[in-house]
Formats: sequence, C-alpha cells, structure tokens
Amino acid sequence: SYPDFADLVDDARAQVDRRVFVDRAIYDAELRQIFGRAWLFLAHESQIASPGDFVRTYMGEDDVIVVRQRDRSIGAYLNSCPHRGNRVCMVDSGRKARGFICNYHGWSFGIDGKLAGTDGKVYDKDAGFAKSEIGLTPVAKVASYKGLVFGTFDPDAPSLEEYFGPFTWYLDVMLDNDEGGTEFIGGCVKSTVECNWKFPAENFAGDILHAFWTHQSGAEAILGGAVDLGKRYDERAFQASIYGHGIETNQDKVGNTRTLGFPELNEYVLGRYDAVKARLGEVRARMVGAVSSCTVFPNFSFLPGQATFRVWHPKGPDKIDLYTWTLVNKAMPDRIKELYRKGTMITFSPAGVFEMDDGENWEYCTKANQGWVTRHQKLHYGLGQDSAWVESELPGHIHHGSLNDANQRLFYKRWAEFMRHDNWADLQRAETAPPRKSVPQAAE
Ligand code: FES
Ligand code: FE
Repeated sequence: SYPDFADLVDDARAQVDRRVFVDRAIYDAELRQIFGRAWLFLAHESQIASPGDFVRTYMGEDDVIVVRQRDRSIGAYLNSCPHRGNRVCMVDSGRKARGFICNYHGWSFGIDGKLAGTDGKVYDKDAGFAKSEIGLTPVAKVASYKGLVFGTFDPDAPSLEEYFGPFTWYLDVMLDNDEGGTEFIGGCVKSTVECNWKFPAENFAGDILHAFWTHQSGAEAILGGAVDLGKRYDERAFQASIYGHGIETNQDKVGNTRTLGFPELNEYVLGRYDAVKARLGEVRARMVGAVSSCTVFPNFSFLPGQATFRVWHPKGPDKIDLYTWTLVNKAMPDRIKELYRKGTMITFSPAGVFEMDDGENWEYCTKANQGWVTRHQKLHYGLGQDSAWVESELPGHIHHGSLNDANQRLFYKRWAEFMRHDNWADLQRAETAPPRKSVPQAAE
C-alpha cells in the first residue's frame, strides 16, 4: 500500500498536493492501485452487436480488445501476443472477425482469446506444447449496465452494480429511456491532450463553475449573442457523489442542449419532458438536457444534454488519449440523432469550441504544476465547504449550489482510498460510500 501517496490528499484542509498531477512514481502507483482494480469503461454494446464484432481500447495503459462472443457474451483480452508481446489487433474496430493473427510470427487466436495456431495457419499440428494453456490474457471481469460495457482486471472486484452503488439512479438519466435504449453513433473521435488524466475527470465530476467563465465566449459564438449559461438556476443546482463518481446539475431542463446551437433539438428535449418525468420523476427529467456533467470514477465521463461520452485514457502523468463518442436514444428520429452528432462535433471534439476551452486550461494546469517549487505547493479545493445538503433524499453525498468543489473533494477522497486500501471490503465501506439515507427510490 501507499500511505504516503494517499496522504497527498488532505481532506480536513481541502488540499490536494500538486505532485499527484506530475509525479511519475505516483502515476505508476495509480496504474496499479486504481486502473489495475477499478471497473473501467470499455465500449457500448451497440458497437459490438454481432459475434466477432470488436473494438480496441485501453484499460489504464493496457491495450485491450473487446469482442462479442458467439454466445452473445462479451469478452475482453489484452491485445498482446503471449509469444513476444506484439499487438495481435492493429485496427481500432471491426465486424465479424473470426479471430486475430499476430503480425510477427503468425500465431492466431480465436475471438475467445484462445491460441488456435502457431505457424500462421489456423490448424497447425505441432506447436510442441499444449496450446490450450496459452492465449490472450483475459480481463478478469466484464459486465454491462444498460448498454455500457465495463471491465476490471481485479478478480476480487465487487460486481459492477456494487461498484456504482446507488449512483445508477443518476446514470439512468441517460441510460433508462422509453426510446429503445441507447446507442453510440458516428464512430469514435480520438485526440491527445497534454494534461494529467485527473483534471478532466474531476472537471466532469462536477465543475459547473468553470463553464460560466471558460465557456462563456464559446457559447456566445455558437448562439450568436449574449447567453446566460445558467447562473440564474443556481438555487436548484446540486452535486451528488457516491464512491467518487460525481454528477452535478442545475436542473434547467435544456441548458446544455441549448449550447449545441440547434433550436429544433431544444424543442425535442422539452417536448419529451413529460414522458421522461413520468418515467424517472421530476429531478431526473430536469437533468436530461440541463447544464450538467458526470464522471464515473476514475476516468469515464459524459454530459447529459450534449450527449458526449468520453474516456480520459492516461498516457503518463502529463498526457491523455481522449476517446469520445455521441450517445443517443435508439428510437430518436434520424434528424435528431444527426443534430446531436453535429452538436457534439461543434462543442466536444478536437475542433469543438468547448473542448479547446477546456483542453487549454488542463494543459496549462499540468505544465504549471510541473515546476519544482510549484509542485510542492498545495491546491485549494475549499469552495462550498458549508454546502452539504444533509436533509436531501437524493442518493449520495449531496451539496447545494454551483460555487462548489464538493464533488472534486470526494473524487480525491476516493482517489486516496484507492491508493491507501488494498482490499475491496475497506474500499466499499470507506467514507465515499453512500450515506445510509441513500435509497435510490427515495427521491420521488
Ligand atoms: Fe506474436 Fe511472435 S510475437 S507470434
Ligand atoms: Fe468544460
């Protein structure tokens, strides 16, 4: 365990040591303690509909193939040949693969990861060892929640639903609908940002505050005039956090969707409001298009209302590969889906105005914190320390208002729990666990 690393988060003083954003030894410990154990986002089921359909992704820095099996289950394997370690899959995704063949000596593997042949042919005779004992290393556990597929390298990890806890109540804002479930459309946009992975993750966990400042000019550019990004809805704004997963919203019904710049989309969201309210209740119906953002610990984030879903893949302490998709409801009209796709490109793609706003901030946060003297200073996470909303019946740790670092404090508290604890019993009963009042049904 790393008690010294866990102590870099000082909850009582609301301080985070800047070395967690720049230090290589801390980063390597994160790969083991966090990315080696947590449930990590792999794919949307819609990307791998048929047996042999696959996508290539990362879990931490580990290259992984996610494949639909013949029995419709989903397998995930290290994309590294057991012979010399070469990638066995070079492409980002594909349909109806029968297997994977390593580029180096031609070892071949089934879509179940098992070694099939060692000489470039599928049916070779004589490897000289029992082929059944060799294969692509499987990811320990793979599971889906309402279309989203996650995996963990830790065979001792709790079930995916236990890992989420009552946070599923918030995930359902996007995932539980009467429009046929969800799907990813338009492919995956991949880009590189020279920042530490935690800056975007903590931002999406509940940093509405930056939007009013960082994104103001971008929103005005898209909408062609002065806009109010939502401060006037602050009395409804809250943050919720469970096990370090964080979501915030101002409940303004359509604030995020509005910034995509298509009035037709706003009307669509508002037109669906009563149906969503009947299904999910008022709070969640208000969140669907609202100024709102979410991070599933550690590095999977999305924006309700703007339909962008993304993973911040760590590539060293000062770099990420950003994978981003557009999520829509399957039964939405094609025209609406297309507006969401265009909207996410305009806002959250490498050419999108909000992506550039955020990316520049996160890159300079990372670079500035690298200075030898600078890195030994603390960062201040104290906004809204008096904002706990204890009588709320919403699931999780609830805080009021948007001038608030509450979810960031809980994100780093969870980070410290992962760095400190070596077993899941301690992790799941740690301080970021849902407070006892949290019952998912209680809010309606
Ligand atoms: Fe894969 Fe040799 S490294 S076949
Ligand atoms: Fe932002």
